[in-house]
Amino acid sequence: MFDATSGASPFGFMRAGCAGDREAVGFTARYQTFGLHEFLDELDEYVGALPLPLLTELLSRVVITPEEIHDYVQFDPNRYRRNRVRLRAHYEALVLCWRPDQISPIHDHGESNCAVAVISGEAVEIGFAWTADGQLRVVSSQRLCAGSITAAAGPDLHQVANWSHPQRDLVTLHIYSPPLMRMETYPESKVLRVPATRVKGLVSFSARGHRQQAG
Ligand SMILES: [Fe+2]
Repeated sequence: MFDATSGASPFGFMRAGCAGDREAVGFTARYQTFGLHEFLDELDEYVGALPLPLLTELLSRVVITPEEIHDYVQFDPNRYRRNRVRLRAHYEALVLCWRPDQISPIHDHGESNCAVAVISGEAVEIGFAWTADGQLRVVSSQRLCAGSITAAAGPDLHQVANWSHPQRDLVTLHIYSPPLMRMETYPESKVLRVPATRVKGLVSFSARGHRQQAG
């Protein structure tokens, strides 16, 4: 057993960014890879909250086949759906399924570290920070294609959306450590108003490292 509790977690948002149009399903990694359940079995070997560098390093080696994720790919026509894969004392794993234009609230992750892999489709992630007078301002935005990983420490504020171009479903794998017992959500009315394109216009689109015209 490994004790992950001593690992420092110096990262706020730690992003691997968009590495092109590579699909997480079936891409060839350079290092030892895990299937979904092998990956979760590996996490089972640790005790205590898993630090973000460890989570993201392990998550980057996951190669998920359509068969092993099939049972967890369940959509809801009204909002993004959370499908739990495994719950342990020190982490939980969920597959989130997003129809086009479904969006999370602005939220933090309470006491939990959160690492996310985009399995298929494209995600947009917007990061926020508090202003001195208690409003939220956009501090980052990025488009995450399949194969990308993003991570957030508990207090970090973000929002995830499926604003893919062209429209298609989005499937993401989320690891929360410890399990997500509490998360705060924040209303859009808290966001400082900037020009009308505040979110979509700020998203940086890239493909294979080259900046693209925002759709
Ligand atoms: Fe989140």
